[in-house]
This record gives sequence, structure tokens and C-alpha cells, in this order.
Amino acid sequence: MHNSATKEILRLKVNGEEREALAPPHKLLLDVLREDLALTGSKRGCDDSSCGCCAVLVDGVPTLACVALAASYQDCEITTVEGIAAPGTLTAVQEGYVEAGGTQCGFCTPGFLIATKALLDRNPEPTPDDIREALSSNLCRCTGYMQIYESVRLAIERTKSSQLDAVRS
Ligand code: FES
Ligand code: FES
Repeated sequence: MHNSATKEILRLKVNGEEREALAPPHKLLLDVLREDLALTGSKRGCDDSSCGCCAVLVDGVPTLACVALAASYQDCEITTVEGIAAPGTLTAVQEGYVEAGGTQCGFCTPGFLIATKALLDRNPEPTPDDIREALSSNLCRCTGYMQIYESVRLAIERTKSSQLDAVRS
């Protein structure tokens, strides 16, 4: 039984780095990422697990960090929105969102980027229904979603053309 004031060292692998945080055992992954590891890209957009703004990849699978106990994820590979591209670069997915207006106020964008990356990593040529299904756990108050679907379509196109360029060179 843990006293509520008890803190433990949590060891987490985040964005390819071994990180440590001194936190109570019941602390949520989202709070550890934001408060202890200064990774503030993941957002808290609701209080009922309904918005997807807090999503991170856990072993490649989109996971709501707002309802995940950090201590339970110490053997996992965690990727936050900060870790999806090398510093100073953008992935095709990020470029798609910028160009197609899939990001407006930007609050939902980290969660959408995570969900889109997970989709395209497992299925590089999704149908429109696949895209809708993969993004159905993410809410956006600004875009009306059409620009987001267009962002994903553009990301797919860009990924294909960069693969073709790589084959030709
Ligand atoms: S903060 Fe809304 S689902 Fe996690
Ligand atoms: S861009 Fe504002 S909530 Fe989605």
C-alpha cells in the first residue's frame, strides 16, 4: 500500500531516450510527460477520455495518456508528438497537416498526428473509410474534419512521391 505522498523513480523510454521521473505511483502518463519530462506537446483536452488530444504511441499503438498510469509503461517504447520527427525536420504527415489546413488552433493536432502516424505505419494506403475509422477517437473543434482528411491524403501522396524519388536516385 502506498502513502499518497510516496514517490518512486519511474524509468520510461520516451522518444528513444531513457528518462527518469520522481513521481507518485498513481501519476498519469500525461502528467509525467508534461510536468516531469517537459514534453508538453500532448494536451489535456477533456476530462472523460473523449478527445484524443493526449494520445501518444505505446509500442506503436495510439494510447490515451490521460488515463494511463505512467508506472505501468516502464517496459514500453513511448513516442510523443515531439518524437515523431528528427529535430528541425517535418515528416510527410506534418507537412500534410500544415499544407492542407489540418491544423488551425493546433490544440488537437498532436493527437491527430499520432493517430495518423500509427495508421500510415500499419497501412500506407488506407481507404477514406480506414482514415475516418483511425481518426474517429480524435476530436477537433476548428476544422470540420475535411481539412484533416485532406491532410492525410496529402501525406500519403508525399510519402509515395518521396519513395519514388529515393528509388530513382
Ligand atoms: S485528454 Fe481527452 S482523451 Fe485524453
Ligand atoms: S485545430 Fe483547433 S481543435 Fe483542432
